[in-house]
Amino acid sequence: MSVHRESKKITVTDIRSRKGGAPLVCLTAYTSLTAQLLDDNTDLLLVGDSLGMVLYGLNDTLGVTLDMMIAHGKAVMRGASKACVIVDMPFGSYQESPQMAFRNAARVMKEVGCAGIKLEGGVEMAETVEFLTKRGIPVLAHVGLLPQSVNTAGGFRSHGKEDDEADRILADAIAVAQAGAFATVVEGTVEPLARRITETIDIPTIGIGASPACDGQILVTEDLVGLFSDFTPKFVKRYANLGQQIAEAAKNYSEDVRSGKFPGPEHCFGMRRSNDDVK
Ligand code: KIV
Repeated sequence: MSVHRESKKITVTDIRSRKGGAPLVCLTAYTSLTAQLLDDNTDLLLVGDSLGMVLYGLNDTLGVTLDMMIAHGKAVMRGASKACVIVDMPFGSYQESPQMAFRNAARVMKEVGCAGIKLEGGVEMAETVEFLTKRGIPVLAHVGLLPQSVNTAGGFRSHGKEDDEADRILADAIAVAQAGAFATVVEGTVEPLARRITETIDIPTIGIGASPACDGQILVTEDLVGLFSDFTPKFVKRYANLGQQIAEAAKNYSEDVRSGKFPGPEHCFGMRRSNDDVK
């Protein structure tokens, strides 16, 4: 597989200009190989802090560090030639102050070479979004269900059924759009709220568990290909079952090793085969 393919990179300006146009196709990627495999068919690859759960077996995203995000961001950049690569800011790396957010986001931009960063939060993060965007750091916002606030927000559930909550999330989306975010993820909201947000703000909405009433969709790739766990959230459509295929491959391999079927003569260097054909 060639790493250096010639194709034009999609920029955050391109993503921003897709408001109301052809739906944005977005997926998560944490490794170079996955990025290569997804690149041709995606507009945006998010190095999400969901990698804490998906790759590292953590219970939530809170234990993810900036160094982890930078290492995986660099790997994804090596694999993506066309898609716009955005790196998630992990919990604790931006909430304290706009200045702290700038220092850490600038480190990500410099070391990874990505197109921008993502951070979670609405009204309370608007000042930080503005601080970053005015200083050259493109921000993908994230409103609705906020995985980094799982301990204060009452777990993973859909948002926006109650009017009060829906109004708050709409206010969050308006705040980050006005603060200069180039797009926003809308996670885990009911369809009427996703529609209201998409119709109200002038930047693209990228939904996850937020209905088709968004300007684009994002999923965790391992959910899409059946590689993460047996539990598939309601909003995920599984397009493959790689987890089962990997387990089956390992079972067949172990049977072959134990029975002496593998390695066969065709897998060995300098071994005389029955027909005297030396490979
Ligand atoms: O961390 C992540 O993967 C995300 C997406 C699910 C939006 O934030």
